[in-house]
Amino acid sequence: MDFSKLSRFFVFLFGLCLQSFLQAHFINNKFKNYTFGIDYERNTFLKDGKPFRYVSGSMHYFRTPKYYWMDRLEKMYAAGLNAVQTYVAWNYHEPLPGMFRFSGDQDLIGFIKTAQEVGLLVILRPGPYIDAEWEFGGFPGWLLNSTKKMRLRSMDPEYIQHVDKWFDILLPMLKPLLYENGGPILMLQVENEYGSYFECDHAYIRHLEHKFRDHLGPNVILFSTDGDGDSYMKCGSLQGLYATCDFGITMNPAKNFKVQRDFEPKGPLVNSEFYTGWLDNWGLKHHTVNAVQFATSLDLILKLGANVNMYMFEGGSNFGFWNGANYPPFHPNPTSYDYDAPLTEAGDLTEKYYLIQKVISKYHHLPKKSVSASLPKGSYGGAFLKKGASILDLLPEFQRTISKYPFFMEDLGLYFGFTLYRHKLKASVVNASLVGRDVRDRGYVFVDGEKMGVFKMQETYVVNITGKARQYLNILIENQGHITFGNTINKNFKGILLNLTIDKKNLTDWEMYPFYNLQSPDLALQTSFLKKAMTISSQFSSLKLPSFYYGFFNLSPDEDKIYDTFIDMKDWTKGQVFINYHNVGRYWPKKGPQVRLYVPRTVLKPGLNTVILFELEEAPCCSSCPCLARFMDQPLINGTVTKK
Ligand SMILES: *[C@@H]1O[C@H](CO)[C@@H](O)[C@H](O)[C@H]1NC(C)=O
Ligand SMILES: *[C@@H]1O[C@H](CO)[C@@H](O)[C@H](O)[C@H]1NC(C)=O
Ligand SMILES: *[C@@H]1O[C@H](CO)[C@@H](O)[C@H](O)[C@H]1NC(C)=O
Ligand SMILES: *[C@@H]1O[C@H](CO)[C@@H](O)[C@H](O)[C@H]1NC(C)=O
Ligand SMILES: *[C@@H]1O[C@H](CO)[C@@H](O)[C@H](O)[C@H]1NC(C)=O
Ligand SMILES: *[C@@H]1O[C@H](CO)[C@@H](O)[C@H](O)[C@H]1NC(C)=O
Ligand SMILES: *[C@@H]1O[C@H](CO)[C@@H](O)[C@H](O)[C@H]1NC(C)=O
Repeated sequence: MDFSKLSRFFVFLFGLCLQSFLQAHFINNKFKNYTFGIDYERNTFLKDGKPFRYVSGSMHYFRTPKYYWMDRLEKMYAAGLNAVQTYVAWNYHEPLPGMFRFSGDQDLIGFIKTAQEVGLLVILRPGPYIDAEWEFGGFPGWLLNSTKKMRLRSMDPEYIQHVDKWFDILLPMLKPLLYENGGPILMLQVENEYGSYFECDHAYIRHLEHKFRDHLGPNVILFSTDGDGDSYMKCGSLQGLYATCDFGITMNPAKNFKVQRDFEPKGPLVNSEFYTGWLDNWGLKHHTVNAVQFATSLDLILKLGANVNMYMFEGGSNFGFWNGANYPPFHPNPTSYDYDAPLTEAGDLTEKYYLIQKVISKYHHLPKKSVSASLPKGSYGGAFLKKGASILDLLPEFQRTISKYPFFMEDLGLYFGFTLYRHKLKASVVNASLVGRDVRDRGYVFVDGEKMGVFKMQETYVVNITGKARQYLNILIENQGHITFGNTINKNFKGILLNLTIDKKNLTDWEMYPFYNLQSPDLALQTSFLKKAMTISSQFSSLKLPSFYYGFFNLSPDEDKIYDTFIDMKDWTKGQVFINYHNVGRYWPKKGPQVRLYVPRTVLKPGLNTVILFELEEAPCCSSCPCLARFMDQPLINGTVTKK
């Protein structure tokens, strides 16, 4: 072995390494100047010293499984977008105080890095309040505590302490991903449409601004977003935050932007939420926004030189219990958040997508990137379902709390889903009026196993009951989602909010069974509970008693042949779907407009799959009509609706 040759070789190798190290270093830090700012004279953003305009689309990482992030982002990039905008949903990451989740579908950092990999910049809206028609506007349910009566979105010290703890975790994770540090995050929004909220606490917005600055430094652009009305802007904007506005289709965008100009006389025009569609509510017709009108309006906005974010570019789904609700009147949102966006809930391209792409191509170079117009879907036929346990059979599985007066669900530490309240009748009653003036949101009333009626928010306050002394009055109450917007978000408790009465007397002595097993962030706990719901056989034959129904269906043994599908609920009444123990979402086909639920392939597996329904009102089975759950290859979110 020639050692001199070998050592020369190593010297050569070292030189090579040094050279590439220096090159990389130079490219990143010297030659390339990562700056992003505002040129107030030329009314534009400046990126790396050059005028820059963003054409962005909203996609919420928390509404699409991680598996599909790349797919959706590539389709956005191919449409000609140069940025993606997302909220950060606090409650998705901190299910219980101090318990933080950032992996799997909660891998926010992974999402931001994926966007960069695809070639998109990121406009981030970390809240802490986001609305987004997402459960409780992104706030964790544990902020609702009747003892503390926190004033959300204000300088209430208890509230601020929780916000600070969260931001002290979140913001340092974002810092390396700022544009100036070589990452994709261009700018960040502070709070959300704060001008629409009654508190109008400027000290609060200033506190948040300082928090962002403390962690992210002096350079990054912070902005606010408010509706295009001076009254909104007044409480939402603040010196130090660049004021932007939001509005939908318009044939005169200059007029809509005038409101932004009142607050930002100079600088780039920005519409932070240009509505491609609209959200849905159970019982209200499916919303759509005309594709041609949208594209025409986009053209006018781009012609003005304005920056725009299309809300939503891909809507996604409110899986599990993540949907929010509007109020007043109380109108919960369905599982689908398709939004009539250019990419469907399942990530397929629509006519709107192509029209948008065409408009963008008039102003910006389209990348040469081909994407698939639609992903394959599975039509898997029907699975026969058997009746499993009813809620009454499952009571031993729940933790019981006893109290003279009923608790709010949040005071039981239950932030999603269901709680069974029960009271032992002290005397026999015949057709007695049980009055529940504030049962939230929907209460199924049974005496022992016999159905008496349903309390419905804003609709039914009285249920007649008949029963004997010592029989149980059972009320299964469903939280249909915390309201996301408006002045009452901090009072939106669930459960029994005012004592129930019979003959004007308050009922006392309650047992409460919160379904912790179904709100758990721990899939293993949910799985073991649902397995019991399948194996414990019911002592009740009634199809009207809230019960679990389960069945199995076979898929290809080849993982590559497993596709997204839609579960058709048209024969069922109202409840919750679980597939392979994943909480897919709520169904309520009788109310509409959503009839089928999107089932991404990420919850499916090769071979045998399990489907479980928690049917609250009535199962469609009889001896000659077996219960079925059907899996189809087409969505159905625009069914007929029945109002109350
Ligand atoms: C980098 O950008 C800053 C701010 O725009 C500018 O002052 C500086 O001269 C630039 N440096 C280089 C090397 O381009
Ligand atoms: C609500 O706040 C009170 C007072 O701080 C506390 O004792 C209680 O544990 C809280 N409730 C829940 C469910 O966290
Ligand atoms: C309760 O009242 C309704 C209407 O008055 C009546 O039709 C029904 O028979 C009554 N039920 C009982 C158990 O008395
Ligand atoms: C409830 O009971 C009252 C009398 O006790 C009766 O007048 C009323 O019709 C009943 N309502 C229903 C829906 O049965
Ligand atoms: C029920 O009444 C009691 C006694 O007035 C009161 O302390 C309690 O807060 C009430 N509970 C509800 C849920 O309204
Ligand atoms: C009965 O409950 C109501 C509503 O929760 C409460 O306002 C009232 O004080 C209670 N009445 C009595 C006598 O406890
Ligand atoms: C529902 O949507 C489908 C697919 O876009 C469409 O073909 C159908 O006409 C729509 N139905 C209604 C009632 O709008």
